[in-house]
Amino acid sequence: MRPPHLFLFLPLFLPRMWGDPEAEPQVFQVLLTSLFANISSTEVSGLALLGDVPLFALEPADWSLRFHWPWARRATDEGDAERIKSQTKMLLRNLVRYVHEVTQKIQLDYPLVVQIRAGCVLHPNGTVWSFMDVGAGGRDFISFEVERQFWEPRQPSHVAELVSKSLTSMKSISLFLQQLLSSSCRDHILTLRRYGRADLERQALPVATLSAQALSPAQLLLLCQVTGFFPRPISVAWLRDGQEVPPGPALGTSSILPNADLTYQLRSTLAVPTGDGHSYTCHVSHRSLGTRSLLLPWGSPSSGLLSGSGVVCAVWMAVPKSGPACREDKVKHF
Ligand SMILES: *[C@@H]1O[C@H](CO)[C@@H](O)[C@H](O)[C@H]1NC(C)=O
Ligand SMILES: *[C@@H]1O[C@H](CO)[C@@H](O)[C@H](O)[C@H]1NC(C)=O
Repeated sequence: MRPPHLFLFLPLFLPRMWGDPEAEPQVFQVLLTSLFANISSTEVSGLALLGDVPLFALEPADWSLRFHWPWARRATDEGDAERIKSQTKMLLRNLVRYVHEVTQKIQLDYPLVVQIRAGCVLHPNGTVWSFMDVGAGGRDFISFEVERQFWEPRQPSHVAELVSKSLTSMKSISLFLQQLLSSSCRDHILTLRRYGRADLERQALPVATLSAQALSPAQLLLLCQVTGFFPRPISVAWLRDGQEVPPGPALGTSSILPNADLTYQLRSTLAVPTGDGHSYTCHVSHRSLGTRSLLLPWGSPSSGLLSGSGVVCAVWMAVPKSGPACREDKVKHF
């Protein structure tokens, strides 16, 4: 048994250095889905993203762009963006024609769904890694090796080989794609970051709540829900008597999901034995909190874990003057 007074000397918050946002890889990508219903009907829809921030959508009806943010529109209007937009639309039209031609030539069956994912990753050291993957019927089909201007089959089929070979022979398209996916894509990321700075580099504080649910008479599931934070990187950990609970089957953390308002959410759970006499705390660190942390303690040995209601305090650590700011939440009854 650990003597209880030791807990006082354990660090309750872990100071953390949040890097400069520019120091993370930036990903720009376009996702296109085309439904080839029959020889005379094609519907193309698309979405462009910076990281997981949606920038614009391609309207299936007239291929116009619908922007999610004024700055995304301004960034897309800059420089020779007009030329790139019109050339990209021409390429798309040619692509649609090409798919219909291939479908007839080798007698594939309609309907056909073709998906494209293309874009680039801009690394903090300034290097660009470009990608373009094509799927057909929900399976990997071919990829464009941007550096080598070369198409490669991604499935062992005659069709994938034939299409790769025929696309590789279209040198002017490969050259255009290489420029589009490397230098133009990199420039576009930099322009987007410049125009969207106010939104992309803002910091939104996480809001956290702690609740519990009885899994069985002997087991309680503690649920720490964290939402409203931006940017995306966050750390949510559980402390047992002030010490971080190591990864294990009792611990469950969701992936970080986007909210509609350009913030993120995450939930973390910890299964604990009912009334085991330990104290449990959900510990949240985020860039917007600086060196402080949110601490949400659950119950205490004396308060009784199955009382059905609890006080959830989000305590600002390491703020000498303002003292703890507690928010009370009623915990749902189950
Ligand atoms: C092709 O598909 C479209 C959309 O499903 C449909 O409206 C149209 O009638 C079809 N045309 C032919 C020739 O089958
Ligand atoms: C730049 O960073 C990427 C990712 O960390 C790395 O793979 C690449 O080798 C680096 N390139 C140079 C020239 O340092």
